[in-house]
Amino acid sequence: MTSCLVRSRLGDYPVLIESGLSEDLPSLLAGMGWSGRLALVTNPVVHELHGERIVRSLSSSGYRPETLLLPDGEAHKVLSSVTALLDGLLSLRWERGEPLLVLGGGVTGDMGGFAASLLLRGVPLVHIPSTVVAQVDSSIGGKTGVDHPMGKNLLGSFYPPRAVWIDPDLLVTLPLRERRAGLGEVIKYAMIGNAALSDLLDSGIEALGGEPFRRELWSLAISESVSEKARIVSEDEHEGGLRMTLNFGHTFGHALEGALGFGEILHGEAVGLGMLAASRVSERLGLSSGVSERLLALLKASGLPYQWPRNVSIDDLLRFWGSDKKTRGGKATLILPVSWGKVIMTRDYDQETVRKALLDL
Ligand SMILES: NC(=O)c1ccc[n+]([C@@H]2O[C@H](COP(=O)([O-])OP(=O)(O)OC[C@H]3O[C@@H](n4cnc5c(N)ncnc54)[C@H](O)[C@@H]3O)[C@@H](O)[C@H]2O)c1
Ligand SMILES: [Zn+2]
Repeated sequence: MTSCLVRSRLGDYPVLIESGLSEDLPSLLAGMGWSGRLALVTNPVVHELHGERIVRSLSSSGYRPETLLLPDGEAHKVLSSVTALLDGLLSLRWERGEPLLVLGGGVTGDMGGFAASLLLRGVPLVHIPSTVVAQVDSSIGGKTGVDHPMGKNLLGSFYPPRAVWIDPDLLVTLPLRERRAGLGEVIKYAMIGNAALSDLLDSGIEALGGEPFRRELWSLAISESVSEKARIVSEDEHEGGLRMTLNFGHTFGHALEGALGFGEILHGEAVGLGMLAASRVSERLGLSSGVSERLLALLKASGLPYQWPRNVSIDDLLRFWGSDKKTRGGKATLILPVSWGKVIMTRDYDQETVRKALLDL
């Protein structure tokens, strides 16, 4: 088992990572001092694949699990889904000390976490993430929320969980494309500073991006990614500086998602291409050399897309890029690599160089 502690103003919490950990929930719950009733918040897909088994094991250990289902998919990551979940919990006369275990991907985690923060001004929350994105990213750091017609993640709260319990084995059932897309975020952690992860990717990227699912390799990749994210959010919980480096690849990535129409490309795929764009911009500005080549090799070997989609015009992209919510005063802060393993934030660039770098992709 690997574990790390995330520091938070609202209370530190442990992240545990172990293959098969979801078989062991009764003892983990007992370790937290919880008995009796608890809610398993998940979605129909994950419930069938993993939730039913978990409910059986909890029941047979004397717990009284209540299953509450959220709808599947980003389109349902809206306030009304959270309200419906809260209606369900209130009609069960939920009490303040009774925990919510949120099992699923980032969509379920963001909504379940938001509901936990609102219900009775906060009930105990445990994340049991079941996608790569959720295991290495969304379950850690305390951001919860939903989308709004005006934009993604516009409503939400900071609400750290009491614990994050990660079972890499849950990824066995994840479709290959989703698993690969998660590698986009894993590569990001290597590029912003985790050297052990860079080594692991150099030798293992093909196996990580392929079939069959490689349990030990994935456990390592997840532990290293988690330790990187935990380190960063512990130092900068509210995105004053360092936490912004987690957005590496995301400015161009979001613009690409927007220009293609949301849903056409998976987020992690867009982040991979976004990091490639940022690396090329950096090279054109003379800030680095060779980074984009190394990234390109990883993207190719992982099975992630590595070619900029031909049906996206650079003008569309620049328009979406300009409207990114991280833009301040009309000019976006760019997060650019200066070497493999080190990124900087800068507004010292000209649009024309960016345009040329993007045209060149
Ligand atoms: N809170 C944060 O800090 C943070 C960070 C990153 C991303 N996010 C959010 O996370 C969301 C994306 O998360 P995601 O990529 O996990 O998408 P997702 O939650 O939509 O999951 C992808 C699909 O996989 C299915 N699934 C989940 N676990 C599975 C399993 N083990 N086997 C088979 N299928 C499974 C889901 O039902 C879904 O259909 C976005 O809404 C994003 O805004 C939040
Ligand atoms: Zn991301």
